[in-house]
Amino acid sequence: MPSLLLTRIEELVTNDPEVPCADGLGLLRDAAVVIEHGQVAWVGPSAAAPAADRNFDCHGGALLPGFVDSHSHVVFAGDRAAEFAARMAGTPYSAGGIRTTVQATREATDEQLAVNAGRLCAELLRGGSTTFEIKTGYGLTVHDEARSVEVARRFTDEVTFLGAHVVAPEYAEDRDAYVELVAGPMLEACALHARWIDVFCDRGAFDADEARRILRAGIERGLTPRVHANQLQHGPGVQVAVEVGAASADHCTHLSEADVAALADSQTVATLLPGAEFSTRSAYPDARRLLDAGVHVALATDCNPGTSYTTSMSLCIALAVREMHMTVPEAVRAATVGGARALRRPELGRVVVGGPADLVLLDAPSYVHLAYRPGVDLIAQVWQGGRPVRSPDVS
Ligand code: NIG
Ligand code: FE
Repeated sequence: MPSLLLTRIEELVTNDPEVPCADGLGLLRDAAVVIEHGQVAWVGPSAAAPAADRNFDCHGGALLPGFVDSHSHVVFAGDRAAEFAARMAGTPYSAGGIRTTVQATREATDEQLAVNAGRLCAELLRGGSTTFEIKTGYGLTVHDEARSVEVARRFTDEVTFLGAHVVAPEYAEDRDAYVELVAGPMLEACALHARWIDVFCDRGAFDADEARRILRAGIERGLTPRVHANQLQHGPGVQVAVEVGAASADHCTHLSEADVAALADSQTVATLLPGAEFSTRSAYPDARRLLDAGVHVALATDCNPGTSYTTSMSLCIALAVREMHMTVPEAVRAATVGGARALRRPELGRVVVGGPADLVLLDAPSYVHLAYRPGVDLIAQVWQGGRPVRSPDVS
């Protein structure tokens, strides 16, 4: 691949701790970047830029690291537009809605699931998410979870086994048997192609002991835990996540002081999913409280047909700033280095020499426009591993 020099970058977000910057974004102005062999080969002021095989004019736009979306559920069939419309007319959300998608997913062929997931992954990528995680959780049989893992693996290395999304309908009268199925044969069928194991530990899903049983089985099988925690009510999810050393506790909408303290004392990232509060018309989590306590915070889309049918990290940044009391730099960091930490991929979320050339160019002079111009597609180009996503690079 020939080298490519990106010129006329008005504002470059590097997230490089070596670049002194009050807001932690490692900002450079009037900058240039060289991409070579899929990596960032040079970063610095325009005036000092070396020559490269080809040039790309950024026209005074802002350049950021690609977003790292650490939480999505894009392997499913059907949609739940009617449920959303009913919710906007006053019907509250309940975890039980998941079963509607389970039925549609079981009826779909592998190819139908792959086409739908592929469409959403293309949306994620065009929206600037150069890395994304995908969960299973709409199959809930050994066969349907295994093929969900296989479909997810076609699109990402970051696959999460979520057989414990809700108790499968045919086990409604025997929860213990379902927990043993998930922790045994289902895990066995899914573990080879998954990196993570997740449990929805909340009202209408799984309790603390059930979650512990499943997460520990996953750890023994070589997976790393993450937990859907404290979305619908106060509960044990966050404490279980910290106890098992989870990479992240996701949602964190209803937190006690003890939950915040436990997160602050741990390596577990609090992943906030404002698309879910938007789409369920629920109160947003208080990101300020977490950040002020020193908790590591990530932002992710939670893209799924029930509670957050969006692939847009730009929307999540805007919501986090407007509704969750994050500053714009905090939200941009949470969507980049925060997501990288939640996926334990420290090489992601930064623009540094030797790192992957995962980059997002805005048709706007500053990253602030991501929140300042909500709902507008500002993304002019995306490079994933140095390859252009939106259109071919023009010399
Ligand atoms: O993250 N909370 C659990 N799972 C999804 C919702 C899934 C659904 O309703 O289909 C979430 O919001
Ligand atoms: Fe989720």
